Amino acid sequence: MKLSRLKERLSHGADVCQITQQKIVALENAPQDRKRLKQFPTVEAAVLLGVSESYLRQITKDGGEFTCGTVVGNNYRRTFTLQELHWILDGLHEKTRDERYRRRRNPTEKLQVVAVANFKGGAAKTTTAVHLAQYMALRGYRVLAVDLDSQASLTSLFGLQPDTDVEPEETLYPVFRGETQSLERCIRQTYWPRLDLVPSNLSLSQAEFEMPVRAQREKNFAFWLVLRDAIQKSATNYDLVILDCPPSLGFMSINAIFAATGVIVPVPPSMIDFASTGQFFRMCSQVLEQVEEVDANGKEIDFFKILIAKHNVTDQNQKQIIHLMGANFGDMLLQNPMAVTTALDGAGLRKRTYYEIDDQVGTRQSYMRGLAFLNSVNAEIEGVMLKAWGRQEAVRALPTSNAA
Ligand SMILES: Nc1ncnc2c1ncn2[C@@H]1O[C@H](COP(=O)(O)OP(=O)(O)OP(=O)(O)O)[C@@H](O)[C@H]1O
Ligand SMILES: [Mg+2]
Repeated sequence: MKLSRLKERLSHGADVCQITQQKIVALENAPQDRKRLKQFPTVEAAVLLGVSESYLRQITKDGGEFTCGTVVGNNYRRTFTLQELHWILDGLHEKTRDERYRRRRNPTEKLQVVAVANFKGGAAKTTTAVHLAQYMALRGYRVLAVDLDSQASLTSLFGLQPDTDVEPEETLYPVFRGETQSLERCIRQTYWPRLDLVPSNLSLSQAEFEMPVRAQREKNFAFWLVLRDAIQKSATNYDLVILDCPPSLGFMSINAIFAATGVIVPVPPSMIDFASTGQFFRMCSQVLEQVEEVDANGKEIDFFKILIAKHNVTDQNQKQIIHLMGANFGDMLLQNPMAVTTALDGAGLRKRTYYEIDDQVGTRQSYMRGLAFLNSVNAEIEGVMLKAWGRQEAVRALPTSNAA
């Protein structure tokens, strides 16, 4: 095929992809189906708050201390919005001063910045990042999710069209260009209470090209600290920042690793993924070594954890690989794997996350099973974060597997 013809076909293909993507997002955002959060029944709400169901019923009933929720049916069963759950949580903390209800970090507890990274494409980075961000918002933390990938999968999962809804100035592009150090312009609210987003679009790939030029032009330009400095300056009102990295070791990923107080590396347990993850570790280690030479006391990290992603629980080969990973990585490996679930695959296709669908996809049993895996992973990461803050009591009170 002649190059000119190929160019034409690729350009046509690009248009088709863009139109299809627009249709999917538009469909999900149709007025009757606009992206919104579900209501939480008492049983789920109690777990998220960390109280018993009977106590929750007692405090939220008419005349109770925290009367709220919508009565469903005639037997006074209630459902709650996420805003209502946050209101109860904050009220309980104010009333009892019990650490188990405290989500907001103290000035002594540093902002947690969690990078979800792996050079391997399709390793479940975005899936892990979005569900972690939403779980943490469900639990009541103030979360900022940052899309560092020019493919903008995270951005479109929040119902935004990267090409049309997001200007380059509304991404990290101006920050990487050195036009501003503030994230103010690119942080936007989402339809999730307590969860904000820094979206991305193709302009970030432009930033990848421009950074080396900047590094050559500007003497003493610490190219690896751009993101860290911007986050430390403008994300002070959050408890947690989550960085969704692209599948490459470019400026974005290096910046993410230097901004991070913790790193999560999702690894699907197949031999091929294992090999590329090995390369990822080696390159991370080389990058850290180089920067240590320049900036010996500059970098501290609270945790670096491997997450087994897309685990097929019936696959015997995977079992062996996981065993091997456990033996070699020890406590670097998170105890809870994330299993492959069809509901999650379908959810991604429809630009919905697991926390946004209900059990209409597949059977209720398979939905609950997937949810239990997801919540166990996220609760474990929450525990790691709480430990980094030194909150042992709160770690003990974390919801267990069927939580949320
Ligand atoms: N536990 C899971 N069960 C089923 N499907 C999953 C699961 N985790 C991820 N997927 C699917 O795998 C695909 C790749 O996931 P994802 O986009 O999160 O990977 P990624 O590492 O961010 O990819 P990229 O490198 O392109 O950024 C998606 O279609 C997603 O829906
Ligand atoms: Mg991704």
